[in-house]
Amino acid sequence: MNRETTIAVGRHIESIEPYKPGKPLEELERERGIKNAIKLASNENPLGPSKKALTVLKKGLSGLHRYPEGSGRRLREAIAQKHKLKPEQVILGNGSDEIMDLAAKTFLSPGDEALIGDLTFAIYHISVTAHHGVAVRVPLRDGRFDPEAMAARCTPLTRLVFICNPNNPTGTMITRRELDRLLSRLPQNVLVIMDEAYAEFADDPEFPNTIEEVKRAAPVLVLRTFSKMYGLAGLRIGYGLSRPDVIEAMNRVRLPFNTNSPAQAAALAALSDETHVARSLRINREGRRYLSESFTGLGLKFLPSQANFIYVDIGRDGAAVYERLLQKGVIVRHIEGRRLRVSIGRPAENRRFIKALTDILKTK
Ligand SMILES: Cc1ncc(COP(=O)(O)O)c(C=O)c1O
Repeated sequence: MNRETTIAVGRHIESIEPYKPGKPLEELERERGIKNAIKLASNENPLGPSKKALTVLKKGLSGLHRYPEGSGRRLREAIAQKHKLKPEQVILGNGSDEIMDLAAKTFLSPGDEALIGDLTFAIYHISVTAHHGVAVRVPLRDGRFDPEAMAARCTPLTRLVFICNPNNPTGTMITRRELDRLLSRLPQNVLVIMDEAYAEFADDPEFPNTIEEVKRAAPVLVLRTFSKMYGLAGLRIGYGLSRPDVIEAMNRVRLPFNTNSPAQAAALAALSDETHVARSLRINREGRRYLSESFTGLGLKFLPSQANFIYVDIGRDGAAVYERLLQKGVIVRHIEGRRLRVSIGRPAENRRFIKALTDILKTK
C-alpha cells in the first residue's frame, strides 16, 4: 500500500475541527498515576443516574438480541404526555447532538446559512458545515444571545438559527421577551432550534416556555436531553419537539435504529423519577450558590448561571490554571483566554475545586 496517498476529505470538511470533549477521569488518573481525581468538565449529573432507570436497565438486558423499536414509540408517547403534545411531535436522538445533526441534514441545501452564537456549543458549527451549510457566527453581548444582532444577520439564505438556552459555555439565558422579539423578526421559513439541554436547571421566571411555541405551531424545534438532569449521558438519548411536518421531514433521514432499547427503557423510567430530579435540582442550586459566593470571595468575575456549570474569569492565563488544577486531580474546562467553565458537582467536589483554585491563585 502506498502510505503517501492520502484520501481527500470533502472540501467542506477541511475547516472542521473535531469536537474536544472534557478529559476523562480514567485518562487523567492513568497519565498522572493518581487516584480520586474529580471531573467538573462535562456538565454531567454528579448524583449519577436515576435508581429507577438503573433497575429497568438491569431487567431489560435479556432482550438485547432484538432490534429496538426504531421510533421509540413508548418513550415518545410519555414525552408527548409530559409536555401535552402529540407523539408525532416528538423525535428521539442518540443524544440531542444527533437531532441537531439531523436538522442540519434535513433542512440545509449547499450554501444555505445557519446563524449560531460566536461562543456557543461546538456541534452546531460542525453539523452545519458537515452538511454543506454555512455557519454564520453572531457575536453574543455580555455572554448572552443578542436577538437584534441575530435578526439583523438573517438573509434570504438563512434556514436555521441555533439558540442555546441556557447557553453553553456562558450559562446565561435569553429571556422570554428577547426570544419573542427574535421570533417576530424572523421569516416563517426559518427554523429556530432551541437547544435546551440545561433548561431543567433554569429557575429564572423570565426563562421562556418554548413548548408553548411548539403548541402554537411556531417554526421552532426544541431539543432536550436525558444526559444532564436525568444523569444518563452514557446511554446517549435526547429528544426534539416540533410541528409534525418538521418531525416527519427529519424522520426521513433518521437512521432506523438510532436510539437503542436500553436507552429508551431507562429514559422512560427516568422521566417519572421525580425524586431524582428534585435531588439533582437541589444539589445544583446549592452548588451554584456555593461556587458563586466562593468566586466573589476570591474577587473573580463570573456570569450568572441558569445551568449546571459556571463560566468564570480567573484573571490570569486559563490554560496554565487548567493544567495546575489537573495536577491537583481536578478536571474543569478551559474555554479561552482567562476563562474556565466549571460544572457544579457534589458539595465535597465543589469544595475541593475551590480549595485547589484558591491555592493556585495564591501563587504567582
Ligand atoms: C448545549 C448542549 N447541547 C447538547 C448537548 C449534548 O447533549 P446530548 O448528550 O443529549 O447529546 C450538550 C452536551 O454537553 C450541550 O452542552
